[in-house]
Amino acid sequence: MQPAEMTPPPPPRRVCVTGAGGFIGSWLVKLLLSRGYAVHATVRDPDDPKNAFLKQLDEAPGNLHLFKADVFDYDTLTAAFAGCEGVFHAATPVPEHKTVDPEKEMMAPAVKGTTNVLKACSAASVRKLVVVSSIAAVCFNPSWPHDRLRDETCWSDKEFCRENENWYCLAKTEAEEIALEYAEKNGLHVVTVCPALVFGPLLQTVLLNTSSKALLYIMNGGPDIMNNKFFPIVDVRDVADALLIVYDEAGPSERYICAQDQMDMKDLVDLMKNMYPNYSYSFKMVDVDMRVEMTTEKLKNLGWSPRKLEETLADSVETYKKAGFVDDEPCRLPHIYRMPDAQE
Ligand SMILES: NC(=O)c1ccc[n+]([C@@H]2O[C@H](COP(=O)([O-])OP(=O)(O)OC[C@H]3O[C@@H](n4cnc5c(N)ncnc54)[C@H](OP(=O)(O)O)[C@@H]3O)[C@@H](O)[C@H]2O)c1
Repeated sequence: MQPAEMTPPPPPRRVCVTGAGGFIGSWLVKLLLSRGYAVHATVRDPDDPKNAFLKQLDEAPGNLHLFKADVFDYDTLTAAFAGCEGVFHAATPVPEHKTVDPEKEMMAPAVKGTTNVLKACSAASVRKLVVVSSIAAVCFNPSWPHDRLRDETCWSDKEFCRENENWYCLAKTEAEEIALEYAEKNGLHVVTVCPALVFGPLLQTVLLNTSSKALLYIMNGGPDIMNNKFFPIVDVRDVADALLIVYDEAGPSERYICAQDQMDMKDLVDLMKNMYPNYSYSFKMVDVDMRVEMTTEKLKNLGWSPRKLEETLADSVETYKKAGFVDDEPCRLPHIYRMPDAQE
């Protein structure tokens, strides 16, 4: 018998992250590598310089494996999932511009893409799938009582989304529904997480994702009118933590809201002005009657402990400055955060 000290260490746990080059995906990859996982990271183009930063992450040389995969291409997904005990599905476009062809730009990548991921998980005998949904799949429900906090039983009303041409919300709602239905029917352990508006520092060096562009717009200003909506916000690092916590702790077919600070956009702007008085902040804001207060107790009960918004904002601004995104030039607000009626 070999002495105990000669026993080789067990192989690392192996998981896959789709959309690994994205804002949330990349922070999740970093977290998983730091916890000793071997990570299969899917990107659409491994040779694109925008994905090079992934290879520089700590532990990447030994434990990160990049896979070229598109959510429309089932075979590329099964290849990436092979040998993985779990999958985190973050790959969905978050549109920056007005959606022209909702089916092609939003519905297909979210719904068909998630369906392919689900089937590929079954084919590759993946044990657990965590789907990154959104509060977009929670918020848009006009029937929800005004005086009741939204919790995981609240779903966006798909007809209401369609009537208001809110294609991102419709797509996220449908994709999350499909994931939970598939889980029930096929016995796959699926958990969904619904993050709020995500800010935080960037790992990416050449790209700014859509939600970060909203914060940059607040700083630089520009011609677009912003909705003064009451909005939940969360730090990207806390989203990554939440995804790993639910992976380890949550039961099958569970849904988790992932939101920390909740405030009017105007209060967020005031907080930014206090912290950074020298930026432009020159844009218009229009009040809209939309309060979407929600509870994150379910996730906190699993041990999730998010950081303070001030830290999120400070770390976001620091990385925007370092990447050269803050230039005092007016910019554009991504379409989904604009006040469309007032402008079109
Ligand atoms: N940011 C937020 O405020 C927020 C809030 C709630 C939920 N979410 C959800 O979080 C997830 C990630 O969002 P994010 O903010 O990290 O956005 P992101 O930085 O734009 O990342 C999205 C990723 O999806 C990938 N992707 C898009 N279409 C694809 C396709 N057909 N096949 C494979 N990959 C594809 C993109 O890959 P390429 O690099 O190849 O384009 C990109 O890496 C999304 O599901 C989003 O709905 C985001």
